[in-house]
Order: sequence, then structure tokens, then C-alpha cells
Amino acid sequence: MNSPFLLENQAEYEAWKKIKLSSYPKSLSDLCVKIDQNNFGQNQINDLKKILSKYNFVLYKFDSKINDLVLQQFCKKLNLVESISNPLSDMNNISNITDNSNKTREKIKGEYIPYTNKKLNWHTDGYYYPTNFSVKSFLLHCENQAESGGKNHLIDHEIIYIFLRDHNPEFIDILMQKDIMEIPKNKNISSSKSIKGPVFYIDKENYLNMRYTSRKQNIVWKKDDMIKKIKIFLDNFLNDNEEYIFSLLLENNQGYLANNVLHRREEYVDGEKKRLLKRIRFLNRIN
Ligand SMILES: [Fe+2]
Repeated sequence: MNSPFLLENQAEYEAWKKIKLSSYPKSLSDLCVKIDQNNFGQNQINDLKKILSKYNFVLYKFDSKINDLVLQQFCKKLNLVESISNPLSDMNNISNITDNSNKTREKIKGEYIPYTNKKLNWHTDGYYYPTNFSVKSFLLHCENQAESGGKNHLIDHEIIYIFLRDHNPEFIDILMQKDIMEIPKNKNISSSKSIKGPVFYIDKENYLNMRYTSRKQNIVWKKDDMIKKIKIFLDNFLNDNEEYIFSLLLENNQGYLANNVLHRREEYVDGEKKRLLKRIRFLNRIN
């Protein structure tokens, strides 16, 4: 395999990296595609895919409020049909992400940080899934903004790979080990099993994927002297880097599509109308 993501293929890696970095820096305004909900055609789909192919994410904005059916049709046009359910998603595998922390009726949702107004640290979606059932892409659509806060920050995982590899190729070697990161089983769920997996892996289609969370609890890293160094390097990179991190405050009817890039969310404060984001995750990436 001549994948640029394998350490032995240095020439392929350098050639790929040159192309990848040549499209940065880029301003957010160039990464947003306007969509007319009554008439979105192949041109808009092509524009979305073109941006995605460079940055692994793209912003879009609908001209007016859309319902779930339009959101699903939009995904279908992008060939996003293999959506993933979770215990908190609805019958169409849409998760309605809002602050439920004060509702006793929906206590279960309030126990998960996404369903509160708290900040969410750096992660890729579904990092707790095994690599054969991973979230390859997702859509996050804003129906109602918060009164303040709730900014999203994203960074293309391929960029992180480049900076880690160029700093020390051994970091990549370790992060590709199949048992480097373990999510212990959930003691409250009898059928739950612990999941071990790599941080970076190359899938069957030869794409690079990332599984990662910066959380400190309920995660077990394989004992390795280098892990501490890698985590410090990564934390510093994510804290200091402005050139490659995109910060966006989603407006109403706006959203983003991503090939599961690393992302985080800031805390927020609701106004009269609660912040509501709709999220759909998929087993396939957007190509
Ligand atoms: Fe997420």
C-alpha cells in the first residue's frame, strides 16, 4: 500500500502534505455554501464536496428554516444515507441537542454533557466505538442559536497528523497501535464492553481517521513513556494554533458537515428560546 499515512512512505507523504498545506490559511467566509431549500442542485453539492475534499469540513447556510425531512434530503444528496442511531436520537437517527439538564423527565439526556449548556472538550464523534463501526462523518445543524456562547472550534485531523509526524514520527507509530486508547465498559450497562483502538488508523478506502478525546476520566491509555509527551504536544498544538483551527458560531439555519474532524464546543447561555442543534452521524464519509 502506498498510503502517505504509512511511515515507510516518506516521499508519498511529503507530496501529499505539500498539496494539503497549500490550501491553508483560509477564511471561514470562503468555506460556506449558500443553499436554497426549494432548489438545491448538483452545483451546490459539488461546491460542498470540493471544500470538504480540502478541509474535511464545510459550512452551509439554508435561506430559511428547514424541517427534518429537508435535512434528510440534503444528506441523501450527499450520499449520506447510512446514519447511526444512539439511545438519545429519534426514529430518523437525528439527535436534538439542547440543554436538558433541568428537566427531570429527560434526566437521562441531562446526564450527558452534550445535552447541557456546558463546554465540550476536544473529541471526534464516536471515539468510544470500535474502528469497524466508526463515525466517518456527521452533520451539525443549528435551528436556534444560544443567546450567547456555544462557539464551535474545528481542526482537520489530517493537519494534526502532519504536525505530530513532523515533530516526531514515533508519535504516529504509537498512536496507530491498535490498543493505545481504551474506553472501559460502562458499569451501568450490563451488555457494555471495553473498547480498545488506535487514535489514527487508515480505513479500507485508504483514508485517515482519528479517534480521540481529551477527557481525563473513563479513558485508559496504554502504558507507554511517550504517551505523556504526545498528549502535552497535542494540547499545546491545540491551544496555540490559530492558523489551522476554525472557530464558528453557527447561526440559525446554518450548519456544518465534517468527515469527523476534531472539534470542541464552548459553554453557552440560553435566551427565551433554547439553543437547538440537530446532529446526524454516518457510517460513510462524504466524498
Ligand atoms: Fe461531537
